[in-house]
Amino acid sequence: MDILSTSLLPDNLDPIPKNILFVIDVSGSMWGVKMKQTVEAMKTILDDLRAEDHFSVIDFNQNVRTWRNDLISATKTQVADAKKYIEKIQPSGGTNINEALLRAIFILNEANNLGLLDPNSVSLIILVSDGDPTVGELKLSKIQKNVKENIQDNISLFSLGMGFDVDYDFLKRLSNENRGIAQRIYGNQDTSSQLKKFYNQVSTPLLRNVQFNYPHTSVTDVTQNNFHNYFGGSEIVVAGKFDPAKLDQIESIITATSANTQLVLETLAQMDDLQDFLSKDKHADPDFTRKLWAYLTINQLLAERSLAPTAAAKRRITRSILQMSLDHHIVTPLTSLVIENEAGDERMLADAPPQDPSCCSGALYYGSKVAPDSIPSWVHPSPTPVISMLAQGAQVLESTPPPHVMRVENDPHFIIYLPKSQKNICFNIDSEPGKILNLVSDPESGIVINGQLVGAKKPNNGKLSTYFGKLGFYFQSEDVKIEISTETITLSGGSSTFALSWSDTAQVMNQRVQISVKKEKVVTITLDKEMSFSVLLHRVWKKHPINVDFLGIYIPPTNKFSPHAHGLIGQFMQEPKIHIFNERPGKDPEKPEASMEVKGQKLIVTRGLQKDYRRDLVFGTDVTCWFVHNSGKGFIDGHYKDYFVPQLYSFLKRP
Ligand SMILES: *[C@@H]1O[C@H](CO)[C@@H](O)[C@H](O)[C@H]1NC(C)=O
Repeated sequence: MDILSTSLLPDNLDPIPKNILFVIDVSGSMWGVKMKQTVEAMKTILDDLRAEDHFSVIDFNQNVRTWRNDLISATKTQVADAKKYIEKIQPSGGTNINEALLRAIFILNEANNLGLLDPNSVSLIILVSDGDPTVGELKLSKIQKNVKENIQDNISLFSLGMGFDVDYDFLKRLSNENRGIAQRIYGNQDTSSQLKKFYNQVSTPLLRNVQFNYPHTSVTDVTQNNFHNYFGGSEIVVAGKFDPAKLDQIESIITATSANTQLVLETLAQMDDLQDFLSKDKHADPDFTRKLWAYLTINQLLAERSLAPTAAAKRRITRSILQMSLDHHIVTPLTSLVIENEAGDERMLADAPPQDPSCCSGALYYGSKVAPDSIPSWVHPSPTPVISMLAQGAQVLESTPPPHVMRVENDPHFIIYLPKSQKNICFNIDSEPGKILNLVSDPESGIVINGQLVGAKKPNNGKLSTYFGKLGFYFQSEDVKIEISTETITLSGGSSTFALSWSDTAQVMNQRVQISVKKEKVVTITLDKEMSFSVLLHRVWKKHPINVDFLGIYIPPTNKFSPHAHGLIGQFMQEPKIHIFNERPGKDPEKPEASMEVKGQKLIVTRGLQKDYRRDLVFGTDVTCWFVHNSGKGFIDGHYKDYFVPQLYSFLKRP
């Protein structure tokens, strides 16, 4: 068995709005330094709330009071008011935790039921307490039950235990059971900074409902793979076991919701990549992943243990934890606990770790070597140049191009399919690197597509070829911009950006725009179901003396642009009338010539072949077309230089 792990560390996401209730214990025991420091910390914490957050403050002793009875927007004025309220608190009396928590849950649920909460927000309760309940419901198990019954599965409860007298185990159970964590804060000078630090871990929710799936059945013993929230500055790691004899790559599908995006990220990990990676780094622990898996599993068992319903169940979990910590040489918080509480287990702790790993934990210890025949051949790529030296231009194409054999020019070549006359017309645009060409500009539907040219590494036969190295899509009504280069795919919407790499297989939704990336092959952009665009990646051999990576774009003629769409491709959404006649042999007998009448002009066109790479990315399939010379002169409106735009997302200025 081998161990795998997936970690998720997204970047650049907008925070999700939060609804947060601070529940502060102000019983007599909080009097003095503890309360002073709580007030200090609360003041900085409240200042950190964002305007789109909602909050309230509950303080409790034997009674439960609220700053406000409902959730309030975290505006500057409200925050200032809440700070004043907290400063005035005078701790005294008993501790009614049960009542205070139920009130907090009630406020959150009521706000939600009244439709006041953003459906995409997360709800949190932060309990700060230093003691056992002394008033109201005193039985800890009953409080736990009450909270769990009321809280449903849409609120996370975080607890801070202040000082030594707190029943920290109880707080931990409460939080673990309700999607949160607990932390103990020792009552010394920096209580306030510990409190602040704890809050920072939960202050920036970035994703909701994060789920890691491993569709293959050979993946087992997966650690927790379902997370209610993902907070900024943290990391989610999931590990599991798989049998290397049965799998040579592992697929994982991660789904999550961010503030404005539905994410589906598919990763395909070659199982020997980790091995490779570790063998390159002399300091890396080759057992790292296995230890990580054990560590995560032990932590999970510890959480389960604190929630165990019976003493027998608890003992059983304790035994598993101890066995795993011995097998994997991991120290757990149980170590001392067990010596104190469960004398029977002492012997296990004193034991030396087993010398022969196979004796005790069979499947865990694994043959990390991959059988040579299971290594996919591309892991050792031969440096053969892939035959994708042909430039790929912008194309409007039908879906079944007729097959032929041919060769094509290098510069961005356009194939325009005219459905009514059932003809393909081609032209090249011969320009310079850096220039940005407008392909579609439709101010009415608010859509822009531009392509920026890159040059080959050096001229070939005295001529420097150009290709599309970067494409920009702008969907004005959604305020979504997509930049596709030969390296990355970047989606920007509002203030957030999200980058994907060509080495991912992933899907991202932002409002009506969906982007799917098929690893190293194609990006498909769809707007609702009405428009779609495909961008193909052409990789060339890295050391090729002349050629560079480039992009091709495909736009189906069924896309619903407005009649005012313009641009090198956009203008043909309104099909021009063409008449091709007087077909005759050309200078090259393979390439007949003809006359073409279009837009009141008569042009000489040459029959040629162009490539459609959608089916076969390497060799392409041939498309017969009539080629218009001089950069499409006469066929396109105006001169090709009229289609230069200054920026990747500029609309075309019409004369
Ligand atoms: C949680 O879900 C329950 C049941 O759907 C609902 O009544 C309640 O308002 C929700 N609470 C929050 C804070 O979203």
